[in-house]
Amino acid sequence: MEPQQTAVSYDKLARHWADNAFLARNGIAQHERALQFSRGAGLALDIGCGSNGRIIDLLLSRGFEVEGLDISSEMLALAKAKHPNVLFHHADVCRWEFPRRYDFISAWDSVWHVPLDRQAAVLEKLSSGLNPGGVLIFTSGGTDAPGHVTNPCHGQPLYHAALGIPHLLRLVDEFGCICRHLEYDQHPESHLYLIVQKRPVPTTQHNTDSRPSAEDSSASVDPTSLSPRR
Ligand SMILES: C[S@@+](CC[C@H](N)C(=O)[O-])C[C@H]1O[C@@H](n2cnc3c(N)ncnc32)[C@H](O)[C@@H]1O
Repeated sequence: MEPQQTAVSYDKLARHWADNAFLARNGIAQHERALQFSRGAGLALDIGCGSNGRIIDLLLSRGFEVEGLDISSEMLALAKAKHPNVLFHHADVCRWEFPRRYDFISAWDSVWHVPLDRQAAVLEKLSSGLNPGGVLIFTSGGTDAPGHVTNPCHGQPLYHAALGIPHLLRLVDEFGCICRHLEYDQHPESHLYLIVQKRPVPTTQHNTDSRPSAEDSSASVDPTSLSPRR
């Protein structure tokens, strides 16, 4: 199913998404976990932001400057009414070129609608759109192998695709990120979310001292921190 068809379905589902009580909480605890890996506020992007604005609210409350992006004009109209001061992009993430880099990117329940043959390219785009140390949270189907399916949702066809966990984790590494967290957060549903972080730019050491600099050590693990607390 092409992204434009997904947009038509979401145009018809927009009101439902804005009013749904489950969706008002969905993903918030997971974003709070992701924010623990973030090195402070900066610029954030909510991809497939939808209509209800709860993730934007969370990011604004943490001091981020936030932008939203969605392919559905109806979803965006509701999002803009809720957040008139936020910059929104009406675009298909598959075609959108990042105008800048971000410190935090959310793609909650959105990029799984991207056609399977374009998902790796979108993941590469999201990874490239992160500043060093930047954090990306996104959802996927928790499958072992790639696959896709189209099912009705409140009378509208919705396409979902998943690359499969092994492929996903290889791509995360290949695109310069480290997986910080992976969880089936709605088990036994196969809803999966990942928190990944862009590798910091390696620092050049100018001294002959073999000890890591303060900046290097912030990205590495202190083995004593893994010991049980006494
Ligand atoms: C399940 S809703 C999730 C909305 C929001 N992230 C939330 O959690 O409330 C999926 C959203 O992704 C958007 N979307 C789907 N495919 C997209 C694409 N190719 N580019 C941009 N947005 C897309 C839809 O229009 C819809 O608003």
